[in-house]
Amino acid sequence: MTFSVPMNKRFGILLLLSLIPWLIQARTGRYRAMWRTDPATSMVIGWEAFGGRQSRVIFQSVGQPADQWKVHYPDKKVASKDMKNYFARLEGLSADTRYRFVIRDSEGDSPMMYFHTAPDDPSTPITFIAGGDSRNNRSARKRLNLLAGQMQPLAILFSGDMTDMCTAREWQQWLDDWQLTITSDRRLIPIIAARGNHETSNSILEDLFDIPSPDAWYALSFGGDLLRVYTLNSLAPIHGRQTRWLTDDLQQHGEAFTWRIAQYHYPIRPHTRRKKERLDQLEAWAGLFHQHKVQLAQESDSHVAKITWPIRPGKGPESYEGFVRDDQEGTVYIGEGSWGAPLRPADDDKPWTRASGSFHQFNWLCFHSDRLEVRVIQADQSAGATALPTLSYGRIPDGVASWLIDGQEELILPGPADEMAAIIQDAERFPLIDLDGRSSLQIPYRLGSTSEIRIEFTNTLRQVVKSIRLHREAGNYLEGIDIRDLPRGRYVLIVYADNKPIMRRLVQQ
Ligand SMILES: [Fe+2]
Repeated sequence: MTFSVPMNKRFGILLLLSLIPWLIQARTGRYRAMWRTDPATSMVIGWEAFGGRQSRVIFQSVGQPADQWKVHYPDKKVASKDMKNYFARLEGLSADTRYRFVIRDSEGDSPMMYFHTAPDDPSTPITFIAGGDSRNNRSARKRLNLLAGQMQPLAILFSGDMTDMCTAREWQQWLDDWQLTITSDRRLIPIIAARGNHETSNSILEDLFDIPSPDAWYALSFGGDLLRVYTLNSLAPIHGRQTRWLTDDLQQHGEAFTWRIAQYHYPIRPHTRRKKERLDQLEAWAGLFHQHKVQLAQESDSHVAKITWPIRPGKGPESYEGFVRDDQEGTVYIGEGSWGAPLRPADDDKPWTRASGSFHQFNWLCFHSDRLEVRVIQADQSAGATALPTLSYGRIPDGVASWLIDGQEELILPGPADEMAAIIQDAERFPLIDLDGRSSLQIPYRLGSTSEIRIEFTNTLRQVVKSIRLHREAGNYLEGIDIRDLPRGRYVLIVYADNKPIMRRLVQQ
């Protein structure tokens, strides 16, 4: 038997059918991810509950069929900014592992989402995006949020001034816009949040991001002993308890790590004349950064872009505004907060400023055991970026515009165990191959599985002068590389398979 439905009724039925997935979805939203404890074994999932009952996280690891779905009810529920903010603190997770999850309540399920725990192995690259100052300039901050998601970092360091007036409506819009950071493979990128002057209290960060300390200063470790990240609070008293905590932590824990970095809101020496100098932070922190070899400090607040040479506190004729350049022992300061906020002129350079500018940007950081790669990403020039399909591990998507600093897209900060320097010096283990004007070079390597190959020639200034990317199946290779474009000089040649070095040679052209 057949029956016919009038056109207008048919349209109504189709409309109802199309709405069913939404009608049965959990009444939740404004999702976010954070860390309070070990990023390799934990994740905090945060969301807003709009009305359903028994809101909870249902999760399991991806790719492990034996792993059953687990249920985790909220550990914390807090009403803030006219939202019911729920937080589930998941613990006991596996490192460097992708998990799928939904938020389930009496009304149904959220869309399926994912999170990824941090690696615990220092040989696995860790990639962050770091920036601040999104304020209420929504169209620009949405572009930066989208770009951040496309770049697939492990986490985002956000050093304050998320909104302008800190109202409920602004925070709701901010969290709505934050959903644009969700990646193309539906992963929530954890935020590591610091307080800015537009956050009216520390408790806002506790209530909306479940930060691990009511003081809004805290440290997190990544990649085994690869990296310790210090989040400091420019809005709390600088001297006293905060600096004592920082000193103790650097002494007791920080020095065991290859890399130490800090993020905080106020730049010590702003690169716009419209902002105050922060002498209290200079006195309390810059010396500690130097003493304990904090290699990088991420600052915000000014709405300009800057990167300094490595600098340390100093007095005397060669110093300027309390800092001297020290390429061996200094800290590189980057910033200063242009995640959409109204731009200011970069009109206060110092002799130790490496570059400054006025444009929307955030920093891209990739930590390896032997080096830190730093890029300043020009958001407005990156509109054509294509999203990476999975977590970055150091890859950059096509179409992302990096600010040229001294003609380079990427700055390399050598690590304490600088393998590159060791290769250059260790003529016993790495005998020099003289190319002697040859036009090609045969590179032997073996692959156990299908891999993305990267062959890099890096000069003694640690600038990558030639890079070749190849997709190769498992097997033995004798790769013929055209080197006619390689300028005269000495190079470290490294072959990477899926970002892990598998062969190193010292060559001279
Ligand atoms: Fe600020």
